[in-house]
Amino acid sequence: MIGINLNFNFRVNDVLNKRPFFLFFSIVLVAGIFPACSRNFKAVLPVQSTPQPNHSDPFQQNRRLGRGINLGNALDAPHEGDWGVVLQEDYFRLIKNAGFSSVRIPIRWSAHAGTNPPYTIDPVFFARVDWAVHQALTRNLAAVIDVHHYLELMQNPAANRARFLALWKQIANRYKNYPSGLLFEILNEPNGRLTPELWNGLLKEALAVIRASNPGRTVVIGTAEWGGISALNKLQIPPAEQNAVVTVHYYNPFHFTHQGAEWVAGSDAWLGTAWRGTPEEKTAVIRDLDHAAEWGRVHNRPIFLGEFGAYHKADIVSRTLWTRFVARQAEAENMSWAYWEFCSGFGIYDPVKKEWRAPLLYALIPE
Ligand code: BGC
Repeated sequence: MIGINLNFNFRVNDVLNKRPFFLFFSIVLVAGIFPACSRNFKAVLPVQSTPQPNHSDPFQQNRRLGRGINLGNALDAPHEGDWGVVLQEDYFRLIKNAGFSSVRIPIRWSAHAGTNPPYTIDPVFFARVDWAVHQALTRNLAAVIDVHHYLELMQNPAANRARFLALWKQIANRYKNYPSGLLFEILNEPNGRLTPELWNGLLKEALAVIRASNPGRTVVIGTAEWGGISALNKLQIPPAEQNAVVTVHYYNPFHFTHQGAEWVAGSDAWLGTAWRGTPEEKTAVIRDLDHAAEWGRVHNRPIFLGEFGAYHKADIVSRTLWTRFVARQAEAENMSWAYWEFCSGFGIYDPVKKEWRAPLLYALIPE
């Protein structure tokens, strides 16, 4: 195995060092092989004409999500690549082979749509999302697509309501004939001026828009207040909605998971915070996740732990212990989960060395 890896690295460097050859190689690749690949690829697209079953069982759908990973910092950046991640076909293959059953694909639609009615989504961006969804579904990875980082909506819900619903109308129409392995998550981490009360109203409207074209699609609905477990008690889903998975995010203790995070003011002061799995530390995780699970039992809704992770500035032993404990505890509570995230600041894969960060991968998937 080592021999093969070394050989592979040598060949990549070799190609990069010979730029004229590389340029020629690229032209040949793009002009010749890529169209051939995409033709072949189209032949294995998910069968778009297959009608969806009228009702999926959301508990079964949640089991299908199982163990997942967020493809974060790619399509949720202002533009793909701005945050250092450009999705690769290989990522989906690696994720599937490592034993994951789903991917969550965060998407910043609001950066790729008109700002006046009818708020048309850029067709090039739509095609890119199609590609990512196909990469997942053709490998039998379930895929959750969301609306991520719609910052303007959080700041001014009233002024962005029509645009948000128009985005969902277009997304839902585009994917209405896709297989049931594609799930729609209405909005990532409602926060700010999008209060729990306003969110309850808006999610109801978005559900109506989605249901108009997707009566059988499983929809994922998160909590206000940044997707926290504590906001579950404020979440109201129309009782008639029977094909919903409820999602929460978990980053506690926050001073541990977000130590040194550049986007969290003051977090440098938390550097060095460890998580060693003491009885007290474990009890806190058990209590928090059980609160979410209990809400799910009372309301008869399956629970998806759609994000959890610890930033790379925490020590790797603590990250591994915490990640393993949260994942196993979620499973013990019959939750599906998706680790935040694949190959960036929380990442379990090193895209430069092209190798898994093994302790974190095994923490998530022990087998
Ligand atoms: C955000 C990311 C952030 C992560 C952890 C996600 O919901 O979209 O930008 O890195 O939470 O804070």
